[in-house]
Amino acid sequence: MNKIPLAVIGAGLIGKTHIERAQALENVELVGIADPSAAAQEMASSLGVPWFADYVAMLETVKPRGVVVATPNVTHADVAVACLERKVAVLVEKPIADTLENARRICAAAAANGVPALVGHQRRYNPIMRQAKSIIDAGVLGKPVSVTALCTWLKPDEYFETSWRRQVGGGPVLINLIHDIDLLRFLFGEIESLQAITSNRIRHFEVEDTAAVMLRFCNGALGTVSVSDTTAAPWNWDLSAGEAERFPRQDDVNSHFFSGTQGSLTLPRLELWRYHDQPGWHDQITVQRAVPHIGCPYAEQLRHFCAVIEGLEQPICSAEDGLRTLEATLAVHEAATSGAVVHLRSDAS
Ligand SMILES: NC(=O)c1ccc[n+]([C@@H]2O[C@H](COP(=O)([O-])OP(=O)(O)OC[C@H]3O[C@@H](n4cnc5c(N)ncnc54)[C@H](O)[C@@H]3O)[C@@H](O)[C@H]2O)c1
Repeated sequence: MNKIPLAVIGAGLIGKTHIERAQALENVELVGIADPSAAAQEMASSLGVPWFADYVAMLETVKPRGVVVATPNVTHADVAVACLERKVAVLVEKPIADTLENARRICAAAAANGVPALVGHQRRYNPIMRQAKSIIDAGVLGKPVSVTALCTWLKPDEYFETSWRRQVGGGPVLINLIHDIDLLRFLFGEIESLQAITSNRIRHFEVEDTAAVMLRFCNGALGTVSVSDTTAAPWNWDLSAGEAERFPRQDDVNSHFFSGTQGSLTLPRLELWRYHDQPGWHDQITVQRAVPHIGCPYAEQLRHFCAVIEGLEQPICSAEDGLRTLEATLAVHEAATSGAVVHLRSDAS
C-alpha cells in the first residue's frame, strides 16, 4: 500500500491527539513534526519522527501531501497558506483563523492552488452527529422550528492561569461556543441573524464567562444557546457525548434539543419524540432511542482528510464552512457589544 505522507505543525495539546491518531492509521506515514518547543522535539524523537523547529523547512524537506495545522489561532493563516501554496492539503484546527480576513486568505489559497483545505470541527465526524443529520435531512422532524443548545460547565481556576484565557478572544464564545455554532449550522442550516448578551459577573475577567445567544436560521427556525464556563453543570456536548477521554462521559444527559412540526430530537442521546395517533399536547407522545456506536471523531476526521487527499471523498467541513462558522461566532461578540441584531453576510466567502 502506498502510504500518504502526513505532517503535523504544532504539537501541543491537540497536536498530540492528531499525532496519535495519524500513527494509528494504516494508510498514513507520519513524515514530520514541526514545532519549536523542546517538548515537541522530545516527543518527535521518542516516536522516531523527523522534527523541525521551522515548518517551512519541514515542508521543503519531507514534502508531505497533507498537513494538520494545530498551532495557535493567530498563526493558522500564515501556516495554512504556506502549505497550500506548495500544493499541500491542510486540516486546520478550529477556529479556521483569528479574523475573517485571515480565514478568507486560506479559502483563496485553497481555491487558487486547487488543494483541499479542511477545518477541524471534529463533532461533525461523531457517529451521533452523522445519525442526527440523516434523521433531520430525511425530514423526520417536519419543518425545523426551534433548537435549544446548552454549553454549561465549570473550568477549574488553574485553567485561567494562562493569561490569554482571561483576555478578549480567550473566553467560552470563541473557544467553545464556536463548536456549537458549527453543530447547529451542520444540522439546522445557515444562520441569518443573531442577538446576544454576555457577562463576566462571576470571574470578573476582561473576557466573558457567560453568554446567551438568540439565532434566526435562513429556513425560518429560531434557536437559543446558553454558554458558561463558570457553572457546576453537566449540560454540554463534551461531557454528554464523551468525545474526548479527558472528559468524564455523562450517560444520561442531553445538551441539544431540536424541534420540528412532526417530531423532536435530543443530542447526544438521539431520543426521537413523535406522536403516532392523534397529535396534540393532550395525547400521548412516544420516544424512540438510538444508541450509535461510539467512535473517535478525531480518528474519523483524519481518515476523512486522507480520503479527501486521495480524491475519494468531498470535504465534510471545508474552509468555507470554517469561515461561516467563524463569522457567526464573531458576530456574537459584535451583537453583545452593540446590543443590535447582527445580520450575517450571505456571501461570507
Ligand atoms: N478541536 C479541538 O477539540 C481543539 C482542542 C484544543 C485546541 N484546539 C485548537 O488547536 C489549536 C492549538 O491549540 P492547543 O490547545 O493545542 O495549543 P497549545 O498551546 O497546547 O499548542 C500549540 C503548539 O503550537 C506550537 N507552535 C506555536 N507557533 C508555532 C509555529 N509557528 N510553528 C510550529 N509550531 C508552533 C507551540 O510550540 C505549541 O506546542 C488552536 O487553534 C485551538 O483552538 C482544538
